[in-house]
Amino acid sequence: MWKQLANQWALITGASSGLGEEFARQLASRGMHLVLVARRRDLMENLAAELHLQHGTRCHVIQSDLSDPAEPKRVLDEIERLGITIELLVNNAGFGVVGEVEDVDLARMLTMIQLNVSALTELTYRVLPAMIQRRRGAIINLSSLSAFQPVAYMGVYAASKAFVLHFSEALHCELKDRGITVTAVCAGVTRTSFFDIAGASGWLQKHASHSVDFVVKTALRALERRQQFTVPGWRNYLLTLLVRIASRARVVKESTRFFRPRRPEKGASKQNGPATK
Ligand SMILES: NC(=O)c1ccc[n+]([C@@H]2O[C@H](COP(=O)([O-])OP(=O)(O)OC[C@H]3O[C@@H](n4cnc5c(N)ncnc54)[C@H](OP(=O)(O)O)[C@@H]3O)[C@@H](O)[C@H]2O)c1
Repeated sequence: MWKQLANQWALITGASSGLGEEFARQLASRGMHLVLVARRRDLMENLAAELHLQHGTRCHVIQSDLSDPAEPKRVLDEIERLGITIELLVNNAGFGVVGEVEDVDLARMLTMIQLNVSALTELTYRVLPAMIQRRRGAIINLSSLSAFQPVAYMGVYAASKAFVLHFSEALHCELKDRGITVTAVCAGVTRTSFFDIAGASGWLQKHASHSVDFVVKTALRALERRQQFTVPGWRNYLLTLLVRIASRARVVKESTRFFRPRRPEKGASKQNGPATK
């Protein structure tokens, strides 16, 4: 697969940090050229310069807020204008929110759905027709371990990732005999800025986690094997089996242990964070 993809172009969303940045590094080391998309242009330009120096990678940086409904099409129009054909799409941009119902910032929740679900869906459906015509192409969609169950205090995020998993698996089945592979990556806790942004800072210090290097290597191996989905880490994989045999009520009840916001001391203000064990 990597021989075929060398010197071809990958589009990576959320390429300015964390898993997206690592996808850029590992795909560049396999000889791919990259279109990097996120909001923080400076980080992507530094990464592009570094990858060009290291591997001779051609990178094109597109600054975009993909939660704006007009942006997925604008990004793909720009790519088309540049004459670039996308052979691999990595739908990685996403974020989560942890918190209680009373604290919900509705606009932020809707932005999350727009980014995690709608932008991913639009990019996927807009790149697929050309891939189907060429009978060649690959898509990696970043789902999550939380896709396998409802997660209290992180309900919208977990539901958005359940969408990504189900959507990707359905497409995998529809397209696997037409030369196209769609792989969902159900990552568990990974060391990135994700939990700080979600409002659960301190989470990484208290829980077992994987490196971005491990998660991306596992994702690329799964794509190479044309897998429908992958769950990096055997312990995480076991968890996905456990939730299938436990009752749904038990599963969601257990999830309250993870993200229940700490109760404020009397007189103190409420804050989000992982429950202390
Ligand atoms: N870390 C984990 O434990 C974990 C576990 C399972 C799944 N995931 C998933 O992995 C993916 C990557 O997250 P990460 O862990 O690498 O976190 P991260 O370091 O916070 O990276 C998130 C990336 O998404 C981009 N992004 C956020 N909002 C955006 C927007 N409106 N438009 C365009 N790009 C946007 C960010 O770039 P800008 O801020 O520059 O826009 C950044 O590059 C997400 O889909 C996440 O749900 C993470």
